[in-house]
Amino acid sequence: MGHFIIVGILVAGSTYFLYTYVLTNANLLPAQASTQAAAIDKLFSLEWFFISFFLSLIIVFILYSVVVFRRREGDDSDGKYMEGNPILEVVWTLIPLGIVLYLAYVGSQGLGDVERRRLGELEINVVASQWNWRFEYPDGLVTNQLGLPEDRQVLLRMRSEDVIHSFWVPEFRVKQDILPGDESFVRELRITPTELGDYKVRCAELCGSQHYAMLADVIVMTENDYGLWLEEQAAGCDLDDVTCGERWVNVNGCTACHSLDGSDLVAPTWLGVYGAQEELADGSIITVDDEYIRMSILEPNTQIVDGYADGLMPQNFGELLDDEQIGQIIAFIASLQ
Ligand code: CUA
Repeated sequence: MGHFIIVGILVAGSTYFLYTYVLTNANLLPAQASTQAAAIDKLFSLEWFFISFFLSLIIVFILYSVVVFRRREGDDSDGKYMEGNPILEVVWTLIPLGIVLYLAYVGSQGLGDVERRRLGELEINVVASQWNWRFEYPDGLVTNQLGLPEDRQVLLRMRSEDVIHSFWVPEFRVKQDILPGDESFVRELRITPTELGDYKVRCAELCGSQHYAMLADVIVMTENDYGLWLEEQAAGCDLDDVTCGERWVNVNGCTACHSLDGSDLVAPTWLGVYGAQEELADGSIITVDDEYIRMSILEPNTQIVDGYADGLMPQNFGELLDDEQIGQIIAFIASLQ
């Protein structure tokens, strides 16, 4: 009986130490910035408790046996022979079964908390593509930053224009794969931000050579700041052509493939490209002028510069950009000399 009391005390002490000082105090998780994060962290905490307990139970039993029941000098006898122990077997089947059922119950409650719909939720479309995030707000506003009001639920309706991507803001905890395809492949995710601040959405599905750089800013603002931010974003662009062009370039994620500093990515750099002579895949030489750039945006596969792959550039910019915006993008490219 003495052994059981000692082992019991050691297991309890080790569980307490692991749970409190190693798993909980180590701050293994990023900041908690949404109501969904709170629900998920509750589950983490519970599972960490069980992990601490079972790890302690196994390690304490092994170490205690190794030390206390070690072979003594001159003792060559076998250990006590045991065959079957129905009570022990029932106990070690029923206890884990109970724990699994309990975790399933708590887990489904957590899932309910994460997916619960609140009145007045704000609907935003998220469009992922290689390697860009685009956010479509209710009144036709399109941005490349995700601005969110604090303490209001948003419903993100997500789709992809090419391969599978995944929406992940670690501080919000929730993550959702984004699939290409028609309306039936649109995936939904609900987030209720609770902490003001700047975050990043990152792609959590390997999606090509620039996957690691598929990031966008997420800004959680007060309701008032959010209103101002919306106005600022919706103001359209009444600045000069080059500045407006730069904005459309950012919204559409062009720089994921076209560098502005001369470095070579999967597509030609824009630095100094305007006015340059380029050799195409068929051997002909062209001058990069307004008309060539316009064609390259609208029909990207027709005149590929030699050495670059075709089929990479999205072919729907004709639907996303109007003539004025394309003109402004050309002005921006021409300014990069
Ligand atoms: Cu998109 Cu990784």
